[in-house]
Order: sequence, then C-alpha cells, then structure tokens
Amino acid sequence: MILGIDTSCDETSIALLERDSGRVAVNLIASQIDLHAPHGGVVPELASRAHAESLAPLFEEALRRANASLHDITTIAVTNTPGLIGCLLVGTSFAKALAYRLNVPLVAINHLEAHLFSPFIGGEPVFPFLGLVVSGGHTAFYRVASWDDVTLVGQTVDDAAGEAFDKTAKLMGLGYPGGPVVDKLAQDGDALAFAFAEPKVKMGAQYLSFSGIKTAVRYHIEKLPALDEVVRRNLCASLRHAIVSHLSRKAAYFLEQGGYSCLALSGGVAMNALLRANFKTLAAERSVTAAIVAPEYGADNAAMVAYLARHRPAVSDVCSLSTLPSKKIQARELKQCGVVSREET
Ligand code: KG4
Ligand code: ZN
Repeated sequence: MILGIDTSCDETSIALLERDSGRVAVNLIASQIDLHAPHGGVVPELASRAHAESLAPLFEEALRRANASLHDITTIAVTNTPGLIGCLLVGTSFAKALAYRLNVPLVAINHLEAHLFSPFIGGEPVFPFLGLVVSGGHTAFYRVASWDDVTLVGQTVDDAAGEAFDKTAKLMGLGYPGGPVVDKLAQDGDALAFAFAEPKVKMGAQYLSFSGIKTAVRYHIEKLPALDEVVRRNLCASLRHAIVSHLSRKAAYFLEQGGYSCLALSGGVAMNALLRANFKTLAAERSVTAAIVAPEYGADNAAMVAYLARHRPAVSDVCSLSTLPSKKIQARELKQCGVVSREET
C-alpha cells in the first residue's frame, strides 16, 4: 500500500491506497475549520500545532480502518510544496522518519499536481486534458499531455476564486469558509439581481482576476439600505454567477485552442454546484470528456497524494535532517506557458 500524507494547510489527511488496484482503502481528513473560524481565516501557527497533534493518531486510525499494519506500507508519499511552511514541516518530518524506520521509498508530491490529477482517482486520466485547480489559494489552468507533461497555461493575477468567495462572504457576515455558505444561499437567489462586469486582465486572455468582484460586492453592500435575507441570497447568487462565469469563459477559451480530449475540475471550489454543472455542460458542448472531482477528493486530502505517487520518483536522501522540506526533497517544478510565475508558498 502507498501511504499518503497531506498537511499543507488547514486539513490533516492520511490515506492508504492499494498500489496494484489503485483502490483507496482509506482517506481520513481531520479538518481544522472550527479552530480557525473565530479568526476569519487560517492562522499558520495554530495550523501547524494542530497537525502535530492529530497526525499520529490519524495515522493509527487509518491503519485500523484499513485493517493494515506498518508492514503493508511499501511507499510513503507526502506533500512537500506549496503550502504553509510550518504545516509542511510536520508532514514531511513524519514521512521522513517513518520511511527511514520502515526502509521504504519516500515520494515528494507537489500539492497542486495532486489536485490536478484528483478527478481521475479510482481510474486513469484521459490525456491530453485541460485541468483547472481552483481552491482558496490557487486558480490555475494546466495542459496535461501525460503523467509527466504538465504545463501551466493560465492563472489568476490576484485573488484565487476561493478567496473571492471567502472574502465576500466575510463582507456579508457569513463566516469562514464562505464558499459553501454562498453556494447554498445562492440556490434560492436571483443571479441577475446584481450586475458584475466580466473581469478583464490587460496582461492577456490567459489570465484571470477576482479582486474586482470583491470590490464590487463591497460597493453593492454600501449602497444597500439593509442586507436582509432576500437581498443576501440575491447577492450570493449574483456573486456565484460572476465567479463561475469567469472560470467557465476561460475554460472555453482554452478548449477553443484545441487539442484537448478532456476537461478536468479539481480543488475545494470544485464543490460549487453551479461550477460543476457549467463544466459538465461545457465539456458536452465541446465533445470532450468531463472529469469532475468526486466530492470526497475536492478539498485537501491525502488520497490524491498517494494516487499521484505511483507516477513520481522516490527521493534519494530519505534521512536528511534538512529543515526546509522543499530543499532536499524538491517536488517537480511545473512548466510555464506564457504566464508569469507567482510565489506559491
Ligand atoms: O482545496 P481547499 O480545501 O483548500 C485550499 O484552499 O487549498 O479549498 C478551500 C476553498 C475555500 O476558499 C472554500 O470557501 C472553497 O474552497 N469552497 C467553495 C465551496 N466549497 C469550498 N467555494 C465555492 N462553493 C463551494 N461549494
Ligand atoms: Zn489544496
């Protein structure tokens, strides 16, 4: 079995995946949402401490549920970038120690790549695919020609889509994280009640932008005499429509370039009901396969880390005591295609 570990942000996750069948035997996620909610966002120091507390018990629980023992683990896969540095250190230290103890290979996984391939867990990817990774920290499109041929083709120049949901939800007093709440309220709202201009980015058609939407929501709220239940639902519906339309138009733009057999959607925001529906429709219109991540693998999870590990090399220096996880066990750098790189950590 491949042991997967992810502690990159605010979810501690452990998974066990059967190498030969590709079946996920167990995928446990300990969410820290309750810990961070009072602060309105993730507090890095609290997050690393919570990972340190929950990782070992979660690992034992995973072994128990999968009816497995330490000796069933033949490979260990861990997210080593991008993420909060203290959080990554907890996971990589645990993984390195265990790999050394069990004398099994250690595989370092890029968290974004893990999301990118997550719609295919339980099966095989359809290449070449256009993949959108859309979460609280990232919004990026990739062209994926094979397991080893991944090229970044477009990304946001400012906020991530999930950030836009979270920040505007905060403005409406809806708590953290805002995405799921906005999505739910939007179901009973009028998406045309408030107008949002389509974001335009001067740098080129391959870029996205979400900071203007946040400003527009603030502007709408300031003009309103009161933010009652109906108005709030309408605002949520209009906001969701604006964010999802921007993502869908960009997906359509990339598909128009041709050469794709599949449209793949992943990341926390991929849980959004309208986005899922729009991407299915878009794929059908363009006669490509739709691969929409299963709900259990949308948010941060270790199953996606273990899934990708079968196609990534093991690191050579397992017992290095290097404190920076990205130095000794560097995950692959993703190729860029005409887009400006942003610092990911
Ligand atoms: O991938 P994820 O769990 O964590 C990272 O950011 O890496 O994604 C979390 C993000 C949050 O911004 C959250 O508000 C958003 O995903 N999200 C949603 C929905 N569910 C989660 N956004 C819109 N609609 C949803 N249903
Ligand atoms: Zn993530």
